Amino acid sequence: MNGTPPLAWDEGLECWVVADPRLARQVLNHPGFTSGTFERSFQLYMTGAAREEYRELTEFLRLWFVQADAPEHTALRRPVQRVMSASYVRSLAPRVEEFTDECLDALAGAVPHDVVPAVADGLSGKVMAHVVGVAEPPEVLHRWARTLSLFIGAMYRRDYAAAAHRTMVEMTEALSRATAPKAFPQETPEDRARTTATWAMNLFGGLETTSSLLASTVLDVLGEPRVWDAVREQRPGAAEAFVERVLQRRPPLRHLGRVVARDQELAGEHMKEGDLVLVSLTGEGLLADGGAPAAACPVTGEAAGTAEGGSSEQHLVFGFGPHYCVGASLARLEAAVLLRRFAARFPAARLAPEAAVWGPNLSYVGLDHVYVDLGV
Ligand code: HEM
Repeated sequence: MNGTPPLAWDEGLECWVVADPRLARQVLNHPGFTSGTFERSFQLYMTGAAREEYRELTEFLRLWFVQADAPEHTALRRPVQRVMSASYVRSLAPRVEEFTDECLDALAGAVPHDVVPAVADGLSGKVMAHVVGVAEPPEVLHRWARTLSLFIGAMYRRDYAAAAHRTMVEMTEALSRATAPKAFPQETPEDRARTTATWAMNLFGGLETTSSLLASTVLDVLGEPRVWDAVREQRPGAAEAFVERVLQRRPPLRHLGRVVARDQELAGEHMKEGDLVLVSLTGEGLLADGGAPAAACPVTGEAAGTAEGGSSEQHLVFGFGPHYCVGASLARLEAAVLLRRFAARFPAARLAPEAAVWGPNLSYVGLDHVYVDLGV
């Protein structure tokens, strides 16, 4: 733990930071902590006038079920979980392969060969457009996701609120034509608002996170000759095992927010109702560099389990407990397919000099560019 306390009040961030993975699991699975961080942040970081002006936007975000607690959350999550079932995700494999090949064509045609727009954004965007049934291209979907995440990360910024509002309008319009929401309640205006919010959340959930994983996967595999060899030889399980290692080494999301539901003691600290809590998913202090400690060898080591809800041994990269990521197996599939197709198509690929350009994002592992020499 590098001397990081398991739970501490951070004066700068004005919130609790949970750094210890065991305590993190406890907080993520505990009724004493609610998921309604947006609501609390609207109160803390937006002026009354901004809340009034952007009421439509705050209502839209409030309806995302990732913000709800049981029993409401359980009921809203169930139908989405059914849609994103393991068999559905398996059935997507051939489409993911086609999309990957299209993205690799785009990478080959791009100068310089930058993995982030062509492949990481491209593949995650094409897959999510397919799952949700929207027609917009990856760059539009990622622009939406980035605009919303900027607002979510800094709600006091009026310019971010204005941009997020415009994005909400565009997303709502696109989702009114999309296929997946058609199977969800549409009878009343409340039903329609909830259905739109649910699918906007799902779309958002699968974009920046997955793009980060895909970019990190290419960056890391080209930096590890032994693993690159195993993947090029298409050794069974090598791609999947390596993806687990990338997830742990560079978790796309570094922390989750919660709100203290009632005054309580935890790990010897007194937490007050309404306090914000940042739960680290990296197993280290929130601001530590370099992500979590290295996992077992990806070639000889076993892939981590994908049990729903997460076992207590499992890493926290996809969360833990009732909100465990509904898209975890889809993200893993995308990354493993990408590794295999990339290695088959560009076996002589190498990282370009100064390959990785990191973005300034605190929440995401922010790779802005990964430049490669395709060796062809
Ligand atoms: C590497 C890629 C991904 C990572 C690291 C990731 C991470 C996470 C995490 C940490 C949570 C828990 C949130 C919380 O407890 O507050 C979560 C929830 C969620 N994720 Fe993902 N995610 C990824 C990919 C995806 C994909 C591809 C989709 C959509 C298909 C998706 C949709 C969702 C949804 C809808 C939730 C909310 C679940 C709930 O509240 O019950 N995610 N994700």
